[in-house]
Amino acid sequence: MPEDLLSKIDTSKLPHHIAIIMDGNGRWAREKGQDRLYGHFHGVESVRDIVEGCAELGIGYLTLYAFSTENWDRPKNEVDGLMELLVDTIRKEVSILNKNNIKLHVIGDKDMLPEYARNELQEALDMTSQNTGLNLVMALSYSSRWELLNAVKHIAIDVKEGKIDPEQIDQNTIQQYLATSNFPDPELMIRTSGEYRISNFLLYQLAYAELYFTNTRWPDFRKVNLYEAIIDFQNRERRFGKTGDQLTSNAALTS
Ligand code: IPE
Ligand code: IPE
Ligand code: MG
Repeated sequence: MPEDLLSKIDTSKLPHHIAIIMDGNGRWAREKGQDRLYGHFHGVESVRDIVEGCAELGIGYLTLYAFSTENWDRPKNEVDGLMELLVDTIRKEVSILNKNNIKLHVIGDKDMLPEYARNELQEALDMTSQNTGLNLVMALSYSSRWELLNAVKHIAIDVKEGKIDPEQIDQNTIQQYLATSNFPDPELMIRTSGEYRISNFLLYQLAYAELYFTNTRWPDFRKVNLYEAIIDFQNRERRFGKTGDQLTSNAALTS
């Protein structure tokens, strides 16, 4: 029961930022003898449920990997279908986002998106920009290597124009040039469908994230599965390079 699991979550120790690689739509559809797009279509129901679940829990940031830079190389009918689904979903859901005080953000190479999708997205970004609840970050036409390349180029331009001193560049500078500059690093990264890889997602930002992998295909992923991942996260010891003993003695000192 979802409620039983929900009661096991320590609401004082929630991850501030959850990032999800929503994988397995194609296989889910194929297993049902359907076209891959059927899987993407049903994946939207999971998005709705997980966004709602995060908003209810009071999670600050949810980043969803919806389409990677590499996904542009998929067959044209799948790419076109995904773009149409994206626009259609945003159009339908924007009022629900507003009702739930959810602010939409997009990270990725927006220039690659078809114009009609860019316009629809911009409208949704504008319409939700005043909301103060959950920050929903859609990674669209996103890849970490694209993001890092982009950051390096812009740092180089600003050095050339004398806006920054190369000697002063530190980790904070890098952070500011990333597409995620306004968001804290994810603390929990979930990947569905039994694949154990990062696939070019937030390589820099996931440095100390807890990774959670599940065999559940994305179209089957629901709030209960999210709660299981959060409970698993809460049972882990995050050491950040220190020893377990150091953490317990620090806790003893601060308690
Ligand atoms: C994830 O599901 C959605 C996108 C990448 C757009 P997939 O389409 O990758 O599904 P599988 O991995 O082929 O099953
Ligand atoms: C990662 O999934 C991208 C998204 C979920 C949007 P892929 O299905 O594209 O990744 P690979 O190809 O299995 O690594
Ligand atoms: Mg996949």
